[in-house]
Amino acid sequence: MLQMNTLTITTTINRRNYTLCINPNQTLLDILREELGLSGTKRGCEIGECGACTVLMNGRAVNACLVLAPQIEGQEILTVEGLAVGEQLHSLQEAFLEHEAVHCGFCTPGMLLSAKELLDENPNPPETDIRFAISGNLCRCTGYVQIVEAIQAASANKPERKP
Ligand code: FES
Ligand code: FES
Repeated sequence: MLQMNTLTITTTINRRNYTLCINPNQTLLDILREELGLSGTKRGCEIGECGACTVLMNGRAVNACLVLAPQIEGQEILTVEGLAVGEQLHSLQEAFLEHEAVHCGFCTPGMLLSAKELLDENPNPPETDIRFAISGNLCRCTGYVQIVEAIQAASANKPERKP
């Protein structure tokens, strides 16, 4: 139900323009999951600690749980649902599959977006940069090794996969 303090904003999410009626105290995470049904972005800690809600805002990784809905006015948001183009998975998604970097999958959307920010900035990052880029994304399953390998595989240097 709309309330007195509802705001109307325009924003772009996954290359699609939206005009949204929002409550100013909603977060970007609320908008994505509850208003738009984009549940690929995960709700974990809601205090900026776990990285499960990571999306890109104008190409920069942000925690959607810490971004208030009015802040997305005029911004471009990319979520995991927007990574693939049509049937074509993003190279990071293919690498995560190939390297079995997805276990329970809860951290995966956020990992993918953090990795995309890194590779967009530096297509050939050293391992230390990869580990730094995903340092805000907690994974309880993989031990990170397969995730790092997948990001390396999607990067320009594409090392051979270990047997
Ligand atoms: S849900 Fe946003 S950082 Fe954990
Ligand atoms: S795959 Fe389960 S939290 Fe990362």
